[in-house]
Amino acid sequence: MTKIIAPSLLSADFANLQKDIEMINNSEADWFHIDVMDGVFVPNISFGMPVIKAIKKHAKKTLDVHLMIVNPDKYIADFKKVGADILTVHYEACTHLHRTIQAIKAEGMKAGVSLNPHTPVSVLEHIIIDLDLVLIMSVNPGFGGQSFIESTYKKVEQLKKMIIENNSKALIEVDGGVTDANIQQLSSIGVDAFVAGNFVFSNENPIKTIASLKKKATL
Ligand code: DX5
Ligand code: ZN
Repeated sequence: MTKIIAPSLLSADFANLQKDIEMINNSEADWFHIDVMDGVFVPNISFGMPVIKAIKKHAKKTLDVHLMIVNPDKYIADFKKVGADILTVHYEACTHLHRTIQAIKAEGMKAGVSLNPHTPVSVLEHIIIDLDLVLIMSVNPGFGGQSFIESTYKKVEQLKKMIIENNSKALIEVDGGVTDANIQQLSSIGVDAFVAGNFVFSNENPIKTIASLKKKATL
């Protein structure tokens, strides 16, 4: 089965974004992973709507937007306007998660929920049927280039079981520390989509790196 590779623009060259966007357009990558950080939910600030709007002008693939912000409800319509195709919010940032998910879908976007490393997958039991995507954080959100947390494997297995038992169509995406050393094992236990930032952009041949990740992930 072919799997989804989503390079994270957080590790791209912000002074030359168009070049990195075109590299992804011309690669075997499937999605653009876009990390929005507000300096409140996570201890870092990345970029917001004007930058995403500029990315959208050049990007020829799905925009997979990962919100690491408090109060995401306030901005759902704005993210649709600037071109998000998939909008993922954090479970830990949403008091009324069901309402937030419905609002994302009502705007015509795919809806995802992300879990921090300490949050058990069981919190999604009553909403899994409504989700298009679950994003498992395999590092603490906020920064690129961190090491993969090993307990992620167990979480993915539990989530896969929950998805099957509930007849959900949710995709499983893993974000943080993904490399050619762990992608195959993650794929074999049911991960559908892989975010990779540092591993792709720190390589001198990112197109080749993306191709080799895709090959390793495809079972
Ligand atoms: C971290 C972000 C990730 C990050 C992944 O908070 O959500 O998307 O860019 O970067 P790497 O692949 O470098 O761990
Ligand atoms: Zn992310």
